[in-house]
Amino acid sequence: PRPMKEDNKSRQQMWEERVLSYAVAKNDSDEIYVDGSKQYDYVFDDSAMINFTSDVEDTVPGGEDSSEGDEESDEEDEATTKYAKIQEAKKSLPVYHHRARVMKAIQDNQVLIIVGETGSGKTTQLPQYLVEDGYTQDGKYQVGVTQPRRVAATSVAARVAEEMDVKLGREVGYSIRFDDKTTPGKTVLKYVTDGMLLRECLTDPDLKKYSCIVIDEAHERTLATDILLGLLKNILARREDLKVLISSATMNTAKFSKFFGDCPILTIPGRRYPVNVHYTLQPEGNYINAAITTVFQIHTTQATDGDILLFLTGQEEIESTREKIEQIASKLGTKIPQLIIAPIYANLPQDQQALIFEPTPENCRKLVIATNIAETSLTIDGIKYVIDPGYVKENSYVPSTGMTQLLTVPCSRASIEQRAGRAGRVGPGSCFRLFTKWSFENELEMMPKPEILRTNLSNTVLLLLSLGVMDLLNFPFVDKPSIPALTKSLESLYVLGALSNRGQITELGKMMCVFPCEPEFAKVLHTASADEKCNGVLEECLSIVSMLHETTSLFIGNKRNAAARIVSETEGDHLLYLEVFRQWRDSGFSRTWCQDHRIQFKTMCRVRNIRSQLSRCCQKLGLSAQSKTAAIKLSEVIPRITRSFISGFPTNVVQLTNSGNYKMLGRQTGALTVSIHPSSVVFQNYKENAKKPDKYLLYQQLMLTSKEFIRDLLPVTQESWLTETVPQVYQELLGKRQP
Ligand code: CDP
Ligand code: MG
Repeated sequence: PRPMKEDNKSRQQMWEERVLSYAVAKNDSDEIYVDGSKQYDYVFDDSAMINFTSDVEDTVPGGEDSSEGDEESDEEDEATTKYAKIQEAKKSLPVYHHRARVMKAIQDNQVLIIVGETGSGKTTQLPQYLVEDGYTQDGKYQVGVTQPRRVAATSVAARVAEEMDVKLGREVGYSIRFDDKTTPGKTVLKYVTDGMLLRECLTDPDLKKYSCIVIDEAHERTLATDILLGLLKNILARREDLKVLISSATMNTAKFSKFFGDCPILTIPGRRYPVNVHYTLQPEGNYINAAITTVFQIHTTQATDGDILLFLTGQEEIESTREKIEQIASKLGTKIPQLIIAPIYANLPQDQQALIFEPTPENCRKLVIATNIAETSLTIDGIKYVIDPGYVKENSYVPSTGMTQLLTVPCSRASIEQRAGRAGRVGPGSCFRLFTKWSFENELEMMPKPEILRTNLSNTVLLLLSLGVMDLLNFPFVDKPSIPALTKSLESLYVLGALSNRGQITELGKMMCVFPCEPEFAKVLHTASADEKCNGVLEECLSIVSMLHETTSLFIGNKRNAAARIVSETEGDHLLYLEVFRQWRDSGFSRTWCQDHRIQFKTMCRVRNIRSQLSRCCQKLGLSAQSKTAAIKLSEVIPRITRSFISGFPTNVVQLTNSGNYKMLGRQTGALTVSIHPSSVVFQNYKENAKKPDKYLLYQQLMLTSKEFIRDLLPVTQESWLTETVPQVYQELLGKRQP
């Protein structure tokens, strides 16, 4: 193994000199500390310097597309407007040089696969070419471009609107769940999440309003993308005028071609500079600490002309890492150049997303901390260093137990190669992999596993059934899900009442598909309005369900502190959320109320928007908020809410054991023990308020980190609520037969 760089010695010295008061992360220890009292003393922890071996990656030199001259013109014409600059930038993209070839291929083929490096212009340019070449027939048709991620759909639409010099939401728009920025009759180019286009199939099964569909980021193989590919295969046979483009990063494309009857694959040669790949010498026990150390190692020893991109797995990890880095950077003060930290993940509010694209000021460095959204969907210019711990958060579903967990797992080799490529877009770069070369070569899967093979299929099966796809086994899947997975999903749809015992979709099932939320939540709302024993609590359930969509960025700081300002005591998280919404509404949806109660105002505005969409949907379906009997007593409200949630999430229930733990119930998981997440008010009730633990709890989320945690919890205080609401599951399970 070679040292980090040839001039390792001097780098090491720079690192030592600059990191004056910096006590660094030790592997395996959770604490990163900066000792303020040693501000001017020299502290250097040798073991904290991560040693990398170096390995120069295969590179594709500029080739026919090297047109760097376009990008940087020395004498900047002062009259050059932003718009003109954008037009210049467009011409420098690889796809621009292949426009004629690509458009000819589209003309000649109904389906075409387009492969190119990330950043070559597939997402932003190709759809514009389609519009410019008249595929929308002056507004008669639309061009639809799918994205697996909401953030990508919105940010790309904004960029393209800017490029076309139109207002976002007019000619160019986007449509994501709970947020539609398009103008009927005006929008010709629409970026849409794959899940939303799938929903559009419900009302427009032939996708008649589109002349071209671009399935972008197809290599991600999300569930919705896979199902769309299957549906499109059938639609293409019915609509000869429809053009379908499958756009993908450079992996796995032969499979798509085979799926669409060996359709042509068009490759756009990309521009990519060499990327120097480094590995750690030993496996890193704590990749967060290793990542932080590497950030400072780069930042303190390298010129500020290149930004850093760090891949982490999710929002919480990103935010806590950002805090630690900010702390260290503030201690170091002016000894180091300014570090601008720009996080990006799916739930990041839109107004904060723009920061990742802002040019970095002189003598500063930008650190983008991203989920794998930055792997291929978003191209961030100016990245020279990539730090890759090699992990990703993935759904993992076990059909035999019916359990879905979000797990942090090692990435595939294909993903890791993509990530490294992000460092070589604007010039030669470096990638620091926080794992060993041996591990890369011997321990990783080659390709990511398609989502359809590792997820709960209930929602998809329900959607397919309501689209009239009866023969699930013969549906054209790119990768067929397993029969146990399909069977399990049919079973749970039956328990929800979405399917009859003959496997046919029920009225309730159809209704559940119409809601812009998961069928389980739709069932909750239906029960809260229509069920004999639960009706009359629709308003309450609408608030809770809407709040549950936005719990990740609800509280400013600690949830416990915020909660204490709202209610002195509450039985569970659902009721806390209900109270938050109620008080906020009573305050006239006030911004000040949010500030006073340590609640994110923007999040609450989104909740309000979700709530009004769900409420409108209920009205359309004739679900009434009125109680069917006389006014319900106050003491009846919580039991009715609880029963409604049991009806929607019949198997998300845990039971108290003799030893004082909770174990999963309603799933064949044996005695899997789970812990209550410390952020839950239930945790505080039991641990601090000495409340007697409830015999049953309903949970909304199951997460696996160091332990199995359940969060967002609703106590089920009466066993009869379980046996009466879901007799199919609980009568036998709890050994109770109702008379
Ligand atoms: O889809 P593909 O990865 O091939 O590239 P793209 O997303 O169309 O990006 C092409 C170029 O547009 C990138 O190199 C960025 O410079 C620019 N872009 C941008 O500046 N801001 C955005 N929000 C999106 C793209
Ligand atoms: Mg793209």
